[in-house]
Amino acid sequence: MARILITSAIPYINGIKHLGNLVGSQMPADLYARYMRQRGHEVLFLCATDEHGTPAELAAAKTGEPVADYCARMWGVQKELSDGFRLSFDKFGRSSSPQNHRLTQHFAAMLDQAGLIREVSEKQVYSIADGRFLPDRYIEGTCPNCGYDRARGDQCENCTKQLDPTDLIDPRSAISGSTDLEVRETKHLYLMQKNLRGELSDWIDSKTDWPVLTTSIARKWLNDGDGLQDRGITRDLDWGVPVQKGDDPWPGMEGKVFYVWFDAPIEYIACAGEWAAEQGLDDAAWERWWRTTRGADDVRYVQFMGKDNVPFHTLSFPATIMGANRIEGQDWKLVDYIKSFNYLNYEGGQFSTSQGRGVFMDQALSILPSDYWRWWLLSHPPESSDTEFTWENFQASVNKDLADVLGNFVSRVTKFCRSKFGEVVPEGGAFGEAETALIADLTTRVRAYERHMEAIEIRKAAAELRGIWAAGNEYLQLNAPWTVFKTDPDRAAAMVRLSLNLIRLYAILSRPFIPDAAAEISEAMGVEDAGWPDDVAAALEALPAGHTFTVPDVTFRKITDEERETWKAQFSGVRG
Ligand code: MF3
Ligand code: ZN
Repeated sequence: MARILITSAIPYINGIKHLGNLVGSQMPADLYARYMRQRGHEVLFLCATDEHGTPAELAAAKTGEPVADYCARMWGVQKELSDGFRLSFDKFGRSSSPQNHRLTQHFAAMLDQAGLIREVSEKQVYSIADGRFLPDRYIEGTCPNCGYDRARGDQCENCTKQLDPTDLIDPRSAISGSTDLEVRETKHLYLMQKNLRGELSDWIDSKTDWPVLTTSIARKWLNDGDGLQDRGITRDLDWGVPVQKGDDPWPGMEGKVFYVWFDAPIEYIACAGEWAAEQGLDDAAWERWWRTTRGADDVRYVQFMGKDNVPFHTLSFPATIMGANRIEGQDWKLVDYIKSFNYLNYEGGQFSTSQGRGVFMDQALSILPSDYWRWWLLSHPPESSDTEFTWENFQASVNKDLADVLGNFVSRVTKFCRSKFGEVVPEGGAFGEAETALIADLTTRVRAYERHMEAIEIRKAAAELRGIWAAGNEYLQLNAPWTVFKTDPDRAAAMVRLSLNLIRLYAILSRPFIPDAAAEISEAMGVEDAGWPDDVAAALEALPAGHTFTVPDVTFRKITDEERETWKAQFSGVRG
């Protein structure tokens, strides 16, 4: 049994996330967490809201709420939606937690002690029209690297390059559009990442098993000459973690806060502290996940994120950890594996929050149960390239995989059994050649499914699961127990017995993907506590003759063409 720490990139507090956000981090992380728990491993699965910075301030200003109240309320909204999608976080924390304040200030103090922080008096963009310093992402302009004309001051979303606002060509305020900007003098703390370049580079080189998407982005910014700059980690803002050296003031830094990208990843650690506190556990309980000399050496730490997040997780956050660890007694754990994702597009374009284009988490749940979305998203993740959500594809997947294949198998078998033998696993007959062949096929498939899940090859795992469902249908079709029953009821009984056991097997294997349907099927079959099918042949005899069940209610319904067209129009972004 292993111990596995899993984190998903923490979503910004402002606004409700769309399906593209979901499939790029939280949903696959949940799949992996559920699978690993089911295999008997000890899992700590953490996520939180990313609450600091200007987006939250501006969103709160818009609703007229104090920013702290806004964040508390939106945390509730996001929590409810993540519950709705059955995201099985052990803790859904908040980057504004006292734990994160303390840890962020602690890390800054350690980095300072390690000689990795310098003060820089710098010129910062001040917007006269807005009456404030403009944070990086609220300055827009042309990317000096790729020429994209709507690059933000923190990062170009087109080429993923991390930027400084003053790098931008033709800058303007993204708040007001004003170009009446002036540069003012202000003092900030810089993390001397360049000093850590060698260590980071060796570390990335040692990660030979990481997805190419992850390492290629990391290497790009390490080796690009100017890729790894020293980085400002403070801002002139009100909302955030106040700049302090641990518990002590930081002279000259009064009234400033840490940059949101400095404190957000530290929330991964703080969140474990929030979890422990909520459980009434002591510090040792969370430190054994995060401090290598207190147990975390045995932990495998896996992160999930979209590709735009990769530079922060392969360079910036590891720099924080490595730098702090230069101080005696500091022993923070580095990530072991980073699973990253490309983008999910929507109907020939991008999801757009501002235009309301695409399906957002609340809307999705209001039209269909979470399993429908989970199945589509997890069977079409943007692993090797960007992918696209279309209503045609969604309808086809749901109707075929869930309704025609899995749902149909379950209802056909249980209903046929009920009509001929009652709601009880029938006795009599014996397994023959057809069953032996099926068991051999399924054994191969289940082992492949396990390998794909371990390797976090999600699309392949989904395809294998679909194949496992289909194998049952083919078996039924080919052997037609409803015909055999007329001449050889014993033989038909054996077939039905096997098929009922297949349903049990499907409920177990499908749980990480479609937990609600799997639970519904398990309950109907009376097998809620079924263990993993290490031996597939044995698993297919787990339900003995005489075991009772009930016919589950329709597990999946089909999406009609009319619904498809209605939804397509409804979410197109041309809102009336
Ligand atoms: N909020 C960021 C985003 O949605 C992700 C932050 S991940 C963390 O892109 F590492 F900083 F926590
Ligand atoms: Zn660019």
